[in-house]
Amino acid sequence: MRKVAEEIIKAKFCIALTGAGISTESGIPDFRSKDGLWSRYDINEYGYLHSFLKNPAKVWKMLAEMAELFEKVKPNPAHYALAELEKLGLLKAVITQNIDGLHQEAGNKKVIEFHGSFNTLTCLNCGKKYSKEKIDLKNLPPRCSCNGILKPDIVFFGEPIPTKALNEALELANKSDLILVIGTSCAVYPAAALPIIVKRKGGKIIEINREESELSYLADYKLLGKAGEILPKVVEEVKKLMKNRLQKIQ
Ligand code: APR
Repeated sequence: MRKVAEEIIKAKFCIALTGAGISTESGIPDFRSKDGLWSRYDINEYGYLHSFLKNPAKVWKMLAEMAELFEKVKPNPAHYALAELEKLGLLKAVITQNIDGLHQEAGNKKVIEFHGSFNTLTCLNCGKKYSKEKIDLKNLPPRCSCNGILKPDIVFFGEPIPTKALNEALELANKSDLILVIGTSCAVYPAAALPIIVKRKGGKIIEINREESELSYLADYKLLGKAGEILPKVVEEVKKLMKNRLQKIQ
């Protein structure tokens, strides 16, 4: 914990990559754990753009369940710890694969939503945009005034990463010398390539996860456990070190 805190203070440009595991303690299941979303919904039938296009009403049942859950949940101590690191000037950006909006709600200002957002939806027929609040989830699939089907602006498998998010994330990874990789299995690319980019440029990886991920072999530090317990402790350690250093200077 002490060494991790020192790395964060020492870093010139630290960023974070987060995944569904940072939000499980808020009550949102992740995807690949044994109680994850893909254990209840077949990824091939629900996770791909072609699955959505083939049977939008079916996929919308899963999406509506997610949307209703997102309305109820709140950020947890892991989200707040990252917001505090940003306020301290020690975290330049959060790149998240999550679509729950909890980083923003916790107070992070610079958040890249790598897999899009549930806040807006687009009509697949005319391209009209809708905000989530305007959608009636009782009649699925929700439709546009032109009768076209609405799709949330989230990234399904088989869809590209939104260009702006991809460019920003690549730019951030290329100038980072430290990346915190939190609550992600690192099983999905291109998001999982971001820590590899940091590492190839000579930067370091700090991983925080309940268990080892597919990129654990690359990590310089591994803190195994719950993000909501570990991250607040890391921030406390950071603040303690900063205070000690300040006292030494004075
Ligand atoms: N603290 C730390 N780690 C946790 C916690 C927790 N409280 N809860 C779960 N984890 C870890 C799991 O051990 C797992 O390694 O978080 C990781 C979650 O991995 P996934 O379920 O694969 O989620 P994620 O990496 O975000 O998935 C990437 O896959 O299906 C797509 O588009 C979806 O954005 C998602 C992408």
